[in-house]
Amino acid sequence: MPKSLISLFILSMMLFISCQQQPTKKKYTIAFSQCIGTDAWRQTMLQEMKRELSFHPDATLLYADAKGDNLLQIEQIKKFLKQDIDLLIVSPNEAEPLAPIVNAIYQQNIPVIVIDRKTSSNLYNAYVGADNIAIGNLAGKYIINTLHGKGNISIVTGLKGTSASIERERGLRESLRDYPHIKIEHVLEGQWEREKARAVAHANIKHLANSDLIFAFNDQMALGVRESLTQFALGTNTIIIGVDALPGPGNGLEQINNNHIQASMLYPTGGAEAIRTAVAILQKKPYQRDNLLGTLVIDSNNSQLMTLQSDKIQDQQADIDKQQALITEQNKIYNDQKSILNILIISLVMAVVFGGVSIIVIKSNLNKNKDLETQNREILQQQQQLIDLSEEVKKAADAKSNFFTNVSHEFKTPLTLILAPVEEMLNEKGITQNAKEQLHRIKRNSSKLLQLINELIDIHKISKSKISLQTTPVQIDAFIQQVIATFKPLSIQNRIAVSYTNRAQLKELWLDEYLWEQVMSNLLSNAFKFTEKNGQIAVLLERDPLDDYVYLRVTDNGRGISPEHIDQVFDPFFQGGYNPDGSGIGLSYVQEIVHLHHGEITVSSTLHAGSCFSIRLPIGYLHLREDERGPAKPAIPSGSNQSLPAYTSDLIEEDVCFTSSKLPTILIIDDHVDIRIFLKDLLKQDYNIYTAENYDRAVQIATSKYPDLILSDVMLPDKSGIDLLKRLKFDAQTSHIPIVLLTAINSDEGKIAGVKAMADAYLTKPFSPDHLKAVIENLLYLRRELKQRYISEIEPTDALSRDHSEHDKRFLNSLSAVVETRLSDAKLSVEDISSELQLSRVQLYRKVKTLLQCSVNEYVLQRRIKKAQHLIIAGFNVNEVAEKVGFSSSAYFTSAFKKHCGMTPSTFKKEQLK
Ligand code: FRU
Repeated sequence: MPKSLISLFILSMMLFISCQQQPTKKKYTIAFSQCIGTDAWRQTMLQEMKRELSFHPDATLLYADAKGDNLLQIEQIKKFLKQDIDLLIVSPNEAEPLAPIVNAIYQQNIPVIVIDRKTSSNLYNAYVGADNIAIGNLAGKYIINTLHGKGNISIVTGLKGTSASIERERGLRESLRDYPHIKIEHVLEGQWEREKARAVAHANIKHLANSDLIFAFNDQMALGVRESLTQFALGTNTIIIGVDALPGPGNGLEQINNNHIQASMLYPTGGAEAIRTAVAILQKKPYQRDNLLGTLVIDSNNSQLMTLQSDKIQDQQADIDKQQALITEQNKIYNDQKSILNILIISLVMAVVFGGVSIIVIKSNLNKNKDLETQNREILQQQQQLIDLSEEVKKAADAKSNFFTNVSHEFKTPLTLILAPVEEMLNEKGITQNAKEQLHRIKRNSSKLLQLINELIDIHKISKSKISLQTTPVQIDAFIQQVIATFKPLSIQNRIAVSYTNRAQLKELWLDEYLWEQVMSNLLSNAFKFTEKNGQIAVLLERDPLDDYVYLRVTDNGRGISPEHIDQVFDPFFQGGYNPDGSGIGLSYVQEIVHLHHGEITVSSTLHAGSCFSIRLPIGYLHLREDERGPAKPAIPSGSNQSLPAYTSDLIEEDVCFTSSKLPTILIIDDHVDIRIFLKDLLKQDYNIYTAENYDRAVQIATSKYPDLILSDVMLPDKSGIDLLKRLKFDAQTSHIPIVLLTAINSDEGKIAGVKAMADAYLTKPFSPDHLKAVIENLLYLRRELKQRYISEIEPTDALSRDHSEHDKRFLNSLSAVVETRLSDAKLSVEDISSELQLSRVQLYRKVKTLLQCSVNEYVLQRRIKKAQHLIIAGFNVNEVAEKVGFSSSAYFTSAFKKHCGMTPSTFKKEQLK
């Protein structure tokens, strides 16, 4: 998936999720410092606060009860500060002591709400509570009314330093100011607590007993006073009034109903209002600074009603709480469902996005695939074009190579025909000195040309990898010494000393002898060429004991190579200072052969001081591939130094040269007329000769004249010499004729093809005439020997052999072939032979009788016995021989043999071995 798509997807998801979320409400921490938390009035205040806070889940309430202790309250407020509060609600225990800390809070920009009591400072954001002066006033008016403007009253104040106490007293006195007959006779401090009020009443019981009315500043203190009076059974008519009128058991409203106190000034706690104001401040909404809660007098006239109302409010409050719990629960369910819905929506969006992205990716993949397919097609087309091109190049290279090979071979034949007569003329007596020199020059240059052509063909074959190494372990000392020996005449002639030292302690090296001879010859020939008379050439074999290489160095003290030419000495056809004759393929050829042997050749030289060619060769045979190791190859001379006997060139070719029927007959086949004439002249003294210029003519002569040997060129105009071999060797009538292939193609493939097609010998042009003669003589001798030893042929009588017709000769050949191939067949009959020769029984009998002076059966028996003699001498036992020559039992064979030879097969064997 593309990176941009992933980023887009993540971004959209984040946006989506953020949209789904409701705007986060800020969380608030509201701290409430209560001056004293144990009494019912203040617990009611706290409950009201908590109830109101349930509508504001974002707000948290921290609560601390100072237990009426100023110092503790100050410490608690300081602690709140450290808790990072957002707003402080404080009901200060006493006005003066709490003022500094509350001011400090306010000055730190933490909103402050003062509830019920005040500090002595005005530094607060809002005040919530009833107007205590108004409460004092209301109580005054109630007292004036109740006492009808005359009477003694006592008051029980709260803690003196508290604002509520101070203000209530002030309000009372203000309202009584105009009523002089109402006197405040006793002021007692009840410190807001029932127990303390009871105690102070107890201590002043006499005073209180004489009071017409006692005004306690809260209902709890009023009850304490009542308890004290009751304890002393006093003041049953004393009117006691209080403040708060709190509903609930034991509180002011119930005491009014019970007539323990006569009235109470309603003083609401203001808890809910304080929280509402706090939320408004925190949410930066408008709020009132002074929230004065309403008040009224509760007495026996309205206390019942107030109780009912209060109960009703309590019930409603319980309902509200239930509803609240229900709403909370519903809210929870709603939130859960909302979460599930959100998850579903997110999943849906993700599915849509992924689907979209997948479609985009699939589309882009499809496009890419299309592009790839197109590219693939183009690559395939290009590949095909390259294949076509390389085939064309190969064809062109093959054509060039064939042309090169053919042309090279074409050069060889005329060169052969130049060299041979020159040699002949040089051997003639009476030749003038001048003519001799001219002829030597012709011979030298022709030989050189022939050598160059041979090297060209060889290097061409190497570069085409046609030559494969056929290495064998070569006795290196003997080998090098042999090569050096061929330079002996040159060494004597130029008085150049040649030395050979083997410091390598190495006897054998794996080399292709034929190729390596050319390496050594080339290097030595070069050394001779560039070394002056009386110079020195050294061949040195060295070995680094640390590695597996041998170094063969050929060093001379000749004229050396100039530095600008030294890099080019291995370039083919380099015509530089070192090699002014321009026959530079020698060193290039040497380098190719060295590389073929997995070696390296380098040269170092100093001008006018000498050169050193150094070959580095791996020792052993592990570096050679399997196919590079083979049977030893005879070192084949290149032929350039061979001479051919002279012949008279102006002779006209004759197809037949029949001298004597006693001489063997040879059929010469070559499309080159000069070669035919040359060969005929070479052989006619010793053989009858037939010549043929092509395949058809050759087959015609071979199957009609039955020559004793055939000498054929491989390249014939209509078919090849190999075809001729196949044709004649698979014909029973001609299969026995030895065939010598004579060709300019000096290649392993040619030889192998010739040998496969059963050539009896293979000679390459230019050939040595003596070698050719020797091969022919040898083959004819072997043939005769073979006949004598292994072939059971019965010769026709001398008289007949001299005069037999071609037809009779052909008949005898056919008869011989049929009998020879079926000699092991015990059931071979006259009928079988006659049907194979397509003659009647009588015709066969007559022909055999006339030509061989015996019956057909006698002829077959003689053939069997003759072959048996050869097999016995060859070491076969009687049983084997009997089977091989077609006798059904060895006893029958032994008796037939004895009858024919006058001795048993075993006696015959002993006689022969003697
Ligand atoms: C409760 C109380 C109330 C009174 C108020 C004055 O502690 O004593 O009864 O009205 O405090 O601050």
